[in-house]
Amino acid sequence: MKKNIESILTESRSFPPSDSFTAAARLKPVDLDALYKQAETDYEGFWAERAQEELHWATPFSKTLDESNAPNYAWFTDGQLNVSENCLDVHIAEHGNKPAIIFEGEQGDRKTLSYSELLTEVSRFANALKAQGIEAGDRVVIYMPMTPEAVIAMQACARIGAVHSVVFGGFSANALRDRIIDAAAKMVITADGAHRGGSIVELKQATDTALSDACDSIERVIVLKCTGHEISMTAGRDIWWQDAIADQADICMPGPVAAEHPLFLLYTSGSTGKPKGVQHASAGYLLHAKLTSKWVFDLNDQDVFWCTADVGWITGHTYVAYGPLAAGATIVIYEGAPTYPDAGRFWKICQELGVTIFYTAPTAIRALMKFGDDVPNAYDLSKIRLLGTVGEPINPEAWMWYHRVIGQERCPIVDTWWQTETGGAMMAPIPGVTATKPGSCTRPLPGIAADIVDEEGAPIKGDDAGGYLVITKPWPAMLRTIWGDNKRYIETYWQKFQNRYYVAGDSAHRDGDGCYWIMGRIDDVVNVSGHRLGTMEVESALVAHKRVVEAAVVSRPHDIKGESIFAYVVFQGDRPTGDEAEQLTKELRNWVADQVGAIAKPDDIRFTDNLPKTRSGKIMRRLLRAIARDEEITQDTSTLENEAILDQLRGKA
Ligand code: WTA
Repeated sequence: MKKNIESILTESRSFPPSDSFTAAARLKPVDLDALYKQAETDYEGFWAERAQEELHWATPFSKTLDESNAPNYAWFTDGQLNVSENCLDVHIAEHGNKPAIIFEGEQGDRKTLSYSELLTEVSRFANALKAQGIEAGDRVVIYMPMTPEAVIAMQACARIGAVHSVVFGGFSANALRDRIIDAAAKMVITADGAHRGGSIVELKQATDTALSDACDSIERVIVLKCTGHEISMTAGRDIWWQDAIADQADICMPGPVAAEHPLFLLYTSGSTGKPKGVQHASAGYLLHAKLTSKWVFDLNDQDVFWCTADVGWITGHTYVAYGPLAAGATIVIYEGAPTYPDAGRFWKICQELGVTIFYTAPTAIRALMKFGDDVPNAYDLSKIRLLGTVGEPINPEAWMWYHRVIGQERCPIVDTWWQTETGGAMMAPIPGVTATKPGSCTRPLPGIAADIVDEEGAPIKGDDAGGYLVITKPWPAMLRTIWGDNKRYIETYWQKFQNRYYVAGDSAHRDGDGCYWIMGRIDDVVNVSGHRLGTMEVESALVAHKRVVEAAVVSRPHDIKGESIFAYVVFQGDRPTGDEAEQLTKELRNWVADQVGAIAKPDDIRFTDNLPKTRSGKIMRRLLRAIARDEEITQDTSTLENEAILDQLRGKA
């Protein structure tokens, strides 16, 4: 990014909420104004008051923000609380019988857990964790299907102060192993398998493979029976979930932990090297998760909230496992694929379970949009009153379809911008107040100080100019560090502007109304179906293949996935062509799936004799990106070591 980034989107439609929506909404224009004003005049006081109002403290805090170790900020440091108590126990007296979780399995099986029942399950499992030797501070890896038990496992960890690290079930054994080793985890909680698109994902088998090498820290594996098919159990190490809870008491007193006690690690991709263990703290994270569940999703007592994200991603943490439960809502959990057995599955679930708030990713919207209006039109979606999106920029066409066909022009759409690192939504419309615009996440929430700056860190004032998206003040739900690597935390998020701002790694611009438009990543991260993958990670996976000499990975736009992965590969020996190239492409795609996970499979692989490099030896990624995107090459190619390579890269030789 040299000077300011040019913005190409020119979307001017605007959709204010209906009067009836506003009349019933939790936050009205006056409430929002008051929140903004307070946050502006007394930032710490604003957050202190929210923390006192929203959370149940075992020991109240007296200090709000501790800046003494900046940029390692700390919040509410002398306070103590328990996250699970704040999500469950606090609702029992008044809402014990209210459904907390309505679950639907891919095969159509259903289960409802009331808040009381969920508390009992969480307590029993928390007791089981203790009985298996887990103590506060121990790391527990959760590698599970999207079932209530995944949430129960997370909440049970929180209840005893254990630190969970959920690994998405779509990740491979290798990816699982890396995360286990990095966190020195003591336990893995997994399942015999997960249902996905009509087949079974072999989670236990992958766990066994991961543990077969260098995972000495693991003492126990707890296995949930989910698919019921045959798996092998290792005596002395593995125990069935049912057996682990069999003799456990229904009550487990929530142990208060310090506000800053780590609640979880969640590994996410960066531009270099291995994934980063983003570490979140207990109180600040929970506060933001709960507050934004109420502000942005306008949750009320009758709502049935369905966030379709898997617990393997941050969205499944904040808006499935923690935020809506802290807010006392009823949530829907669906185990399987959106198109199983057909493209009507999501809409069928919305109809049958009476979903009122639906939150998903643009990639899912685009994929489902392709099947046409008749599919959703066959279902009764009249209960839905609010829609949301997250994970990547939503193109106006998909936004309008969502608005027209799913929201039936009645429902506000909250486009929520945030990241694994931010803990919860940072910029989003307030549905009863904000006029939404297709493709914009509108404005920062109260208490969130966002800005756009240029290469020197100076705020960009003009209407349409783009630049680096930064957060200029610490906020309670911010990540605290990268597990085991605080240096990387500082380098990645703070160093660029001398620790003055949190650097999100996204570029954005702001329009004349003060609305933000996210333009994409600045670093070498690709966003495939809303999932962040480091291009370096895919490159490392490729070069780990014994016959790959060198690889460069770039992204290109993709109709449904948003972005797809394009890999240039230098192979040992003669450059493969024709059938051999086709065969090897298949092999390498499977290889990457094996190393990282199926989501990281390159859509395109192009073999080349060598990679374009400058005379100083740097791979010319901008050039590769332009070629992958069929764009005109504007770059000076005269510094190329081997100019003849261009035709090969274009696939023309
Ligand atoms: C992108 C997901 C545009 C962005 C919660 C960010 C978005 C990255 C939006 C974080 C949005 C997320 N509009 N882009 N509403 N939401 N992104 O950590 O590039 O999986 O930096 O967190 O997704 O992805 P992550």
